[in-house]
Amino acid sequence: KIPVILDCDPGVDDAFAIVSSILDPQIDLKLITTVSGNVTVDLTTKNALYLVQDLKSKVPVASGAARPLLRELEAYEPWFGESGLGDYPDASGKLLQTATDDNAVAEMYQLLSASEEPLTIVGTGSYTNLGLLLVEHPDIVYKIKQFVLMGGTLSQGNMSSVAEFNIYYDPDAADLVYRSGVPIVTAGIDVCKKALVTFQSNDAIAKMGKVGLKLADLLKKYAEKQVAGYIVYDLNTISYLLHPEFYKSEDYFIQVQKTGPARGATVADISSKNDANVKVLTDVDDAKLNAWLVQELSRLVQ
Ligand code: BDR
Ligand code: CA
Repeated sequence: KIPVILDCDPGVDDAFAIVSSILDPQIDLKLITTVSGNVTVDLTTKNALYLVQDLKSKVPVASGAARPLLRELEAYEPWFGESGLGDYPDASGKLLQTATDDNAVAEMYQLLSASEEPLTIVGTGSYTNLGLLLVEHPDIVYKIKQFVLMGGTLSQGNMSSVAEFNIYYDPDAADLVYRSGVPIVTAGIDVCKKALVTFQSNDAIAKMGKVGLKLADLLKKYAEKQVAGYIVYDLNTISYLLHPEFYKSEDYFIQVQKTGPARGATVADISSKNDANVKVLTDVDDAKLNAWLVQELSRLVQ
């Protein structure tokens, strides 16, 4: 089993990462931590708790950073509705569980310290909690096996012509992560745009019980629609972790632009004069990804 901490800001696409990591028997999901991003951290935490509850999972949820490391909270137009997860929370009834408040970094630290084997940290929000962990607990960095992150772009951005949201939102934290020396794999905009969840797959997901129906509905309402299907950015972290063979990658030395008009850009040094710090996913076998996803979510009704 792959021991994993999932740091996220759900988020419709984060929800797909959460659900598949809870359902997959090969993943040992030890902790979900939340961060502000798509919406405020109280809402991303609530959304994570609803998903955990609906899946009858026992995975603990710890809420984390309420704002970026060195910046004030900036309000962006929410991509997934005011709640961050459409009407998912309203349609789910009463929330019975709570999160350990503002405790994400402490919980991560505790888990890493106690674990005999190094843990994978999956990040599908901005990297504020991860940056804090690196700065506050440098003694434990050797216990992080790898970061598998959604973020960045080598071509077009979605916050500016050059910047992707998770990096743009907290570029200072992203910079810390990229410089950490921990092995990093990124699913950026480039590969995520190729990893479309087809309409046919989504129709199949809609038939997978209450949660399947709600997830499919969220994609229909909120995901970026392309000719052949929906972009579900964050899902690619979990699918990569389980099936790296679905993906092609290239290793680059990448630096994060922290300020100015290129804030949030992930600039790759193609001269290769520096040692690579990031494995960037560049292509995906979309058919295999879809077959895997449908199979994975069919566990909702097993
Ligand atoms: C990323 O930004 C967020 O809004 C999504 O959840 C995803 O993590 C895509 O740029
Ligand atoms: Ca996200």
